This record gives sequence, structure tokens and C-alpha cells, in this order.
Amino acid sequence: MKLLFIGDIVGRSGRKAVKYHLSHNQYDFIIGNVENAAAGFGLTDKVYHELKDTGLNAMTAGNHTWDKKETISLIDNWDLFIRPANFSHQLPGSGFKIFNILNKKICVVNLIGRVFLNPSNCPFETFDKIYNEIPDDAFILVDFHGEATSEKQAFGYFAKGRANVICGTHTHVQTNDLKMIDTNTLYLTDTGMCGAEYSILGMEVASIIERFVTQIPSYRFTVETKGNVLFNGFSFTIDNDNIIRDYKLISEIYPET
Ligand SMILES: [Fe+2]
Ligand SMILES: [Fe+2]
Repeated sequence: MKLLFIGDIVGRSGRKAVKYHLSHNQYDFIIGNVENAAAGFGLTDKVYHELKDTGLNAMTAGNHTWDKKETISLIDNWDLFIRPANFSHQLPGSGFKIFNILNKKICVVNLIGRVFLNPSNCPFETFDKIYNEIPDDAFILVDFHGEATSEKQAFGYFAKGRANVICGTHTHVQTNDLKMIDTNTLYLTDTGMCGAEYSILGMEVASIIERFVTQIPSYRFTVETKGNVLFNGFSFTIDNDNIIRDYKLISEIYPET
């Protein structure tokens, strides 16, 4: 069984990169981080269904989870959507979901870091709690949405041997450390993004430079929608005993079409 994890999908260019990749490659189960999928900020119902139709089987989120007003009322209708588990317990949505595919249980968990991000509950303690609720025969993938590489590495070593895949999202720049950190735990600090190649983290270059130069906080970021598109993710296979094999980082540039 072949799985794909896709890093932060940023706006139209990101969605274009995902469509291009999936029209040229076959997978049995596809997880993507969608926190920036709708014009760079959050998710709309329209984009949720577009990504579902494109082939995504599970979608994770992060600090941009609630950016679109409609999310709070629609989140419980979005069967494939998982938001960080360590947000307030009062919020709707789920922090982990179990998907049954080809006689396997794939559990997708989303956590958010606490370094250089808004306050949240402890991701480490939250994982301990969730782990006790997950059936023993489930294959567990954790998307740890974090800014600090140290926090992501710390979580990797904390959860190794329990989670089978621990991958980072949020920084939008792919790290080259995809590796096994335990007998059956695959780890990657950051998956990188899907979005415009000529951009700063998926946003228009000029608007971000302007923000840094002027330091005016109200200056609006605009998602870049032109030019070639970048696809970042990683794939791996799992056998009948949930053993991970053939893991591979993917970073491709596709032409603007
Ligand atoms: Fe993020
Ligand atoms: Fe992001």
C-alpha cells in the first residue's frame, strides 16, 4: 500500500501542483495539509470539495484552521478534515481520525507546536492521551504543525515507537532529514509546501519584502498565483504488518498550465 503526505497546500498554485502530481502518480492513501489552501488562509467548503475530488483522503490543518468564517460551522461536515488536537476542548472538529482502507486502519493525528505560535494545550500530553484511544492495530501518522525545528525533533523522539510517521508542516520549506528514527517510525522535520515557485512561502514576493522593509503590520499578504508551481511531499509504502518501506522525499517543479 502506497501513501503520500503533502505539505502545506498554498492557494490556487498549491492546488494546481497537487492536481499535476496526482495526475501523474498513483497512491492508495493521500494526506495533505490544507491550512493555506483557500487563497493562502484557511479552508472553504468549495476548496474542501475540490481537494477531495482531486484525490485527498485526509486533510490536516494548523494555525490557519479558523481563518475562514465558515470553517467553525462546517468543520463537523468535513469528514476528511482534522484540526490540531491540542486546541481548546470547546471547539468543534476532531484532532484525529481513523480511516479504514484496504483492510487497514490509518489514524491521522494533527498537533500544533507551542513555540513561536499562539498558546495551545500541550501537544506532548495530548498525544499521550490520544494514543491510549487508538486501536493497537492502527497505523499512526502525526502531522506536527510547528515553527521550531527543536520542538518537532523533540516530539519525534518523544513519540517514536508509538507513532509510525511523524512529519512536520508549517515552515513551508522542506527539510532533507526524512529517516527512520525507530524500528518503525519515519520522521521528517518539515514537509515543505505546494505553491508558487517564485514566492516567499507561497505569497507574492513584493508584498512580503514590503512588509519587512516598512514593518507596517497591517500590510496585507497576497498569495502568489502565477508562474511555475512547486510540489513538496513524501511517499512511503506499508506492508501487511504496517512495516514502512521505500520512503522517499518528493520536491518537484511543474510548469504553469
Ligand atoms: Fe501554519
Ligand atoms: Fe502553512
